[in-house]
Amino acid sequence: MKPREIKPGVYWVGAVDWDRRLFDALIPLPDGTSYNSYLVQGSEKTALIDTVDAAMPDVLLSNLQQLKVKRIDYIITNHAEQDHSGALPAVLGKYPEAKVVCTPKCQGMLVDLMLVPQQRIITAADRETISLGDRTLEFIHAPWVHWPETMVTYLREDKILFSCDFFGSHLATSDLFVTDEGQAYESAKRYYAEIMMPFRTSIQKNLEAVKSYAIDIIAPSHGPLHRRPEFIMKAYRSWTFDNPKNIVVLPYVSMHGSTRKMVEYFVGALVQRGVTVKQFDLTGADIGKLAMSLVDAATVVLGTPTVLVGPHPGVAYAAFLANALRPNIKFVSIIGSYGWGSRAVEQLSAMIPNLKVEVLPPVMSKGFPKEAEFKALDNLADAIAAKHKQNNYI
Ligand code: FEO
Repeated sequence: MKPREIKPGVYWVGAVDWDRRLFDALIPLPDGTSYNSYLVQGSEKTALIDTVDAAMPDVLLSNLQQLKVKRIDYIITNHAEQDHSGALPAVLGKYPEAKVVCTPKCQGMLVDLMLVPQQRIITAADRETISLGDRTLEFIHAPWVHWPETMVTYLREDKILFSCDFFGSHLATSDLFVTDEGQAYESAKRYYAEIMMPFRTSIQKNLEAVKSYAIDIIAPSHGPLHRRPEFIMKAYRSWTFDNPKNIVVLPYVSMHGSTRKMVEYFVGALVQRGVTVKQFDLTGADIGKLAMSLVDAATVVLGTPTVLVGPHPGVAYAAFLANALRPNIKFVSIIGSYGWGSRAVEQLSAMIPNLKVEVLPPVMSKGFPKEAEFKALDNLADAIAAKHKQNNYI
């Protein structure tokens, strides 16, 4: 993609990665992603805001060449992660006068991760500014979106917030700005769930920190830009501040059909009681979708058969993931089956210490479920529906 003008003298110069399908060798990218880099030309100085992934420095350098950029004074590094700092050494090589501007915490990380020479880095205090002549960049420290060193950059005169990962989305598109808010919401929620959710309280603080700024455009470093900042800020507020909803997430595996029968019966029982269910067969589930479902669910019920006395490894993985993502869920239970003995409940319960939840009585069936287990599943569905109602989770 060629450089795109956002405003006179402000350009998108990043790279769209249409074909990437995995991030961190972990996170599915069904819609690819982009690494947005921005050029800001002032009357006296020129700044580049974030670079691109280590796989695509040539795209960024070519964009700068097309704009005939002879000199860069500052490379603003909002975040040290390699998808934004990966091309930093190449840009520093091409523009020898450029200084990197970042938070003090980011400085050490750039030296460690990208081998950036210390003398090429200037640190910026919270709310410190740099003048480009007729344009001013203000740096707002925003720790833990989603690493400890992160900041966002505000271009005062144009009211543009360069937010890096904050408000971003893994979405490859030829549109510079969001055109389909439904699609943008879905991608941003997936991104929030996978990247930001573990740091919900920090996100809340950072939402407050940028609230007082007049913002016309949010320019994240992944996905399209927002011309309606209130759209994405409202979504973030709901994901971080709102109560959970009347939703049960049910990730499960079944080996010989017993657990599947219990899951089918249980889902029916919950729906009958007015509870929304999101069911995931973990043998083929998109873990990004599973993560998204955890953003606003009140309850997680894990469904597992017994393998070598413990839970199925696929279910253990889901429990590990939920524990790491720290969703705002309030209740957990386990349903499943075993042939002759099981410690699946104990083992799964021990895997979720980060979740501040009430554990509701599990239902484990010896072999195929029978009347007693169906009755117990009804009781569990009753308990969940009642808990959601008592807490006004609607
Ligand atoms: Fe897009 Fe945390 O890097």
